[in-house]
Amino acid sequence: MTKIAIIVGSKGRGSNMRAIIKACQAGELEAAVALVIGPSRDAPALQVAREMGMHAVVLDQFDAQLLGTLVEHKIDLICLAGYMRLIPEDVVETFHYRMLNIHPALLPKFGGKGMWGMKVHEAVIAAGELISGCTVHFVSDRYDEGATLLQKTCHVLPHDTPEMLAGRVLSLEHRCYIDAIKLWLERNPYTDR
Ligand code: GRF
Repeated sequence: MTKIAIIVGSKGRGSNMRAIIKACQAGELEAAVALVIGPSRDAPALQVAREMGMHAVVLDQFDAQLLGTLVEHKIDLICLAGYMRLIPEDVVETFHYRMLNIHPALLPKFGGKGMWGMKVHEAVIAAGELISGCTVHFVSDRYDEGATLLQKTCHVLPHDTPEMLAGRVLSLEHRCYIDAIKLWLERNPYTDR
């Protein structure tokens, strides 16, 4: 069984994490979430993970401890869900094509350092885009730049506020992340590359 580690951010709600855990528990994904990792003790998503019966750990020395923790738990696939910082180089190298992230817009537009949360949706609306959506991509050593695995689109409606668009994109994200992991599992092992 493929073992997934989900890395959450210090502020994220954990809704993508929850969607992935549920899809594994329901047997929709032939994988198990072995570990949820967070960078700080008070990350709300870690609490959600524990309530869902997951093994959730806090890495106080995040960058220094991450690779060892993933190797120790024999993780096959990493899913970033709300983690906003760059992943340490040793992990990017070891998990090349085995680490995914989700971004709430259609990359390569509206990505990069500082493009997160409501800022993304504000920029999409300000640019007059008719279509937005989300992107699941492989993680590289740069913000939002790894190869795209899957995108899903939705309309930007004429009177959308950033919050309205964010809500529409978020429900799309949950479906997109699960479908992307399915796709990854079908083409596994990327580890042979
Ligand atoms: C999502 O919008 C995702 O695209 C971005 O961070 C947000 C995390 O939301 N990377 P949640 O914590 O999964 O609800």
